[in-house]
Amino acid sequence: MRKATAVACPNIALIKYWGNRDDALRLPANGSISMTLGGLRTATTVEWGGWPRHRVTVDGRVPEGAARERVGAHLERLRRFAGLRSRARVVSRNTFPASSGLASSASGFAALTAAALWAAGKRPTRRALSTLARLGSGSASRSVFGGFVEWLPGAAHGDSYAFPLAPPEWWDLVDLSVIVSQREKAVSSERGHRLASTSELHRARVEGTRRSLAEVRGAILRRDIRLLGKWAEHDALAMHAVMLTSSPPLLYWEPETVLLWREVARWREESIPVYMTLDAGPNPHLLVPREWAERVEERVRLAVGEVEIFSSGPGPGVAPSPDHLF
Ligand code: PMV
Repeated sequence: MRKATAVACPNIALIKYWGNRDDALRLPANGSISMTLGGLRTATTVEWGGWPRHRVTVDGRVPEGAARERVGAHLERLRRFAGLRSRARVVSRNTFPASSGLASSASGFAALTAAALWAAGKRPTRRALSTLARLGSGSASRSVFGGFVEWLPGAAHGDSYAFPLAPPEWWDLVDLSVIVSQREKAVSSERGHRLASTSELHRARVEGTRRSLAEVRGAILRRDIRLLGKWAEHDALAMHAVMLTSSPPLLYWEPETVLLWREVARWREESIPVYMTLDAGPNPHLLVPREWAERVEERVRLAVGEVEIFSSGPGPGVAPSPDHLF
């Protein structure tokens, strides 16, 4: 077989990955935990053939600049791993806006890694897929798995990979991704990771994740939204504190981002179990048990007006699909 299609979902980090111990190998400064987002999808078809160069389109466009180099470098890695001389034709499509803090790189590199290896006739283990996907984008290591997922930082390439903490059906937690801005982010997460260590708060946050990881693991096992939300919010704010105190500083927030942080805290005073987290972008992710999701969505629209909201329960890991994109 020379052609394969993989479908992967992005994920929302509950304890974040921000900053590397080794940038080239993408060995993260700390472990992280995420929920795979079932409402959002990336499908990627890869075909290997005798072309002179790799050819890639994402949502109908040829990637440019840093994105192009990042995908090209990953394809070269996968080509060498698979022992091929050929080059890849890649078509990838997202059901959500890329580069707006919705972690398209997570689902994108998870789907690309799986499709490229499957198309080469390889049958890698999930752990091998996670380890390889990590080299394309750190968070992609987590999107290889469904449900609730932890990524071990590891000390060397082979032992930095993700594994499932609980399957999707374990807990019907909902992530509402509120798109307050569709603009491409000014500073990519790849550049952001390199800036993390310029903040004097970075080391403190990394040390703090020992506790927050343990609390979030426990919260998932007990399906405790209050405990989960408390630590997820704390870590998101700690990560943004690192971003704000990096040099140069990174400020991803928009006015609606601040407004929703305040509103969410107010809604909790009315006993609504809702918590907020934020990746490297302005778009809030609200975490809420399924039975509250609709009411919270209404409140979000009342607070910030007509915005796009993607609602996701825990989604599946990367999977093959018979529906090739070309
Ligand atoms: O995998 P990257 O390089 O796109 O970095 C992801 C960084 C955050 O989304 C901010 C946090 C995370 O753990 O997903």
